[in-house]
Amino acid sequence: MKDKAFVPAVLLLCFWVLLSSGSSRLLQSDDKGNELKNYISWEDLRVVEEVGRERRSSSVKVKDNNLVNQESNMATVNASRVIVVDKRGRGDSVTVQGAVDMVPNSNSQRVKILILPGVYREKVIVPRTKPYISFIGNESYAEYTVITWSDKSSDPYSNGTELGTYRTATVAIDSDFFCATAITFENTVVAEAGEEGKQAAALRVTGDKAMFYKVRVLGSQDTLNDATGSHYFFQCHIQGSVDFIFGNAKSLYQDCDIRSTARRFGAIAAHHRSEESDDTGFSFVNCDIGGTGKVYLGRAWGNYSTTVYSNCYIADIITPVGWSDWDDTDRQSKVLFGEYNCRGRGAERRGRVPWSRSLTQDEVKPFLGREFIFGDQWLRL
Ligand SMILES: *[C@@H]1O[C@H](CO)[C@@H](O)[C@H](O)[C@H]1NC(C)=O
Ligand SMILES: *[C@@H]1O[C@H](CO)[C@@H](O)[C@H](O)[C@H]1NC(C)=O
Ligand SMILES: *[C@@H]1O[C@H](CO)[C@@H](O)[C@H](O)[C@H]1NC(C)=O
Ligand SMILES: *[C@@H]1O[C@H](CO)[C@@H](O)[C@H](O)[C@H]1NC(C)=O
Repeated sequence: MKDKAFVPAVLLLCFWVLLSSGSSRLLQSDDKGNELKNYISWEDLRVVEEVGRERRSSSVKVKDNNLVNQESNMATVNASRVIVVDKRGRGDSVTVQGAVDMVPNSNSQRVKILILPGVYREKVIVPRTKPYISFIGNESYAEYTVITWSDKSSDPYSNGTELGTYRTATVAIDSDFFCATAITFENTVVAEAGEEGKQAAALRVTGDKAMFYKVRVLGSQDTLNDATGSHYFFQCHIQGSVDFIFGNAKSLYQDCDIRSTARRFGAIAAHHRSEESDDTGFSFVNCDIGGTGKVYLGRAWGNYSTTVYSNCYIADIITPVGWSDWDDTDRQSKVLFGEYNCRGRGAERRGRVPWSRSLTQDEVKPFLGREFIFGDQWLRL
């Protein structure tokens, strides 16, 4: 185990050398001349170093100037750029926020935060000023590596007003180039359709260019605030009851497990595009959609709400009309609510509202791949 750590480190080194020698439009420099790795790759979702002494001795000593420069102003982040969170106290921090706090502002190199299994009862904010952060769990323990809290929108805020949905998120990602794998983000508040003040997000993403791989997002009403930016959710599990994926991001949900927990009514997506000129939308591709209740595929939170399901399996949990105009008939002619090649009883389009669309192959094309989220500009997978 310990000896093996050197092999990946050497491989990594080669990888870096290759990258540094090749000219790539994805590699740019910041104002201090440091190379910026302006993309997310599988490497960013892996920790090859061992925890503890071995982890440090096998650290990736590349781009020496940067590291030397950075070490002087990185209070607690080592050349290895891996911070270990262990609630039992054997890592660098016992909380996830503690690890985020160790990352210097305007960080220009990726910092991996390795989160060991455990239930972390805390709220976490990754601020706008700290890009290139990875949250990495152990793939065998995604269910047991949980960041959990239970704020709801009607809870009082410090100045006496209500918290509001935006601030309920257990984990909030405000920075760019964030990625996460094998972590569960949770908000334990339970809401049924029609209840007041129970909006309770588990995860909010306002940063641009974020990737989530094999991540679990658990909540009830307003679980995932997919607020702004381009995001890639790959093989994730997302569950909730009402509008449980909402916001105005441009996101691709590929090979995801979408689970409704609604007892009666609810909705999966509530996309919030309100301007025709916004280039945003939710695209669900090859997802498995199931659970309980009778829910809408989507609701028109904004005038130009855009949501497309393609090549999905949809179980018998969809209300036959399929889509809601949010009680505003004006929106019917502006939204884009589409389905393409879905199967399962929930995909039956006979009862659908006439203003929803069965897309043609040509129409659906821009929604099917990573080009939907400009993946060629920031993903290297
Ligand atoms: C960095 O790693 C060394 C061991 O190599 C460790 O002693 C130290 O606490 C770590 N953190 C900082 C801030 O240097
Ligand atoms: C993940 O857990 C497995 C099983 O306990 C362990 O063998 C492996 O080293 C862990 N991986 C990491 C990166 O910690
Ligand atoms: C309370 O704080 C929030 C957030 O800063 C603000 O939007 C709101 O207006 C404040 N309310 C009062 C009564 O000060
Ligand atoms: C949505 O459309 C309606 C009707 O056309 C209009 O009155 C309203 O202002 C629009 N909302 C936004 C946020 O643009």
